[in-house]
Amino acid sequence: MELDAVSRSYKRWAPIYDFSFGKVSESPRRRTAAHVNARGGRVLEVGVGTGLSLPLYSHRVAVTGIDFSHEMLARAREKVEEMGLEPVKELRQMDARELDFPDETFDTVVAMFLVSVVPEPERVVSEMARVCRKGGEVVIVNHFARDKGPLAAVEKALARFENTLGWHSDFAIERVTADPRLEVVEQTPMSPGGLFTFLRFQRR
Ligand SMILES: C[S@@+](CC[C@H](N)C(=O)[O-])C[C@H]1O[C@@H](n2cnc3c(N)ncnc32)[C@H](O)[C@@H]1O
Repeated sequence: MELDAVSRSYKRWAPIYDFSFGKVSESPRRRTAAHVNARGGRVLEVGVGTGLSLPLYSHRVAVTGIDFSHEMLARAREKVEEMGLEPVKELRQMDARELDFPDETFDTVVAMFLVSVVPEPERVVSEMARVCRKGGEVVIVNHFARDKGPLAAVEKALARFENTLGWHSDFAIERVTADPRLEVVEQTPMSPGGLFTFLRFQRR
């Protein structure tokens, strides 16, 4: 997707996002937040969206969130204010392809349901690796394309509607596993029904 298509798409999604995607993403989101909390330290959530994950972070972490969509970020800011979410230190509008943070700023860099949405996902992963400290973790949660079966055909058929849907339905996992600074240490299917994958990297 191009960035202006992302902006248009998520301007439309913002008012209905929590209602439409909240339930299906709840279980993988909780599991991911629990992992991030257990690690503690400085956290960057890339493509934080409406901030559905923000209430799940504990006082063990200090969270910065970025997103390109002003409308999605506005919802995240509302949550932080209304719920008084103290672990959330900063929310900024930013393109994930050019993260405005120095090298090795964060202990954990997490992106949920983002990599099949962004233009140039390889560049986003490279930026995530850059701002993660050596020995830290990059965590990506996403749906990745199936190799075979009837659902693989559906994913391929839907791919041409990516600008309307707001994501790329047949996104190959290899697009985010090639950065030489990141070693895959875990790749686990997540509920519901293995639809999403928990992909954990250690920063070399
Ligand atoms: C499917 S939503 C996921 C939101 C959130 N991570 C969640 O768990 O619900 C994808 C998000 O990625 C954001 N996004 C897409 N391209 C981006 C970019 N280049 N830089 C920053 N955010 C981007 C969109 O604005 C949208 O909020």
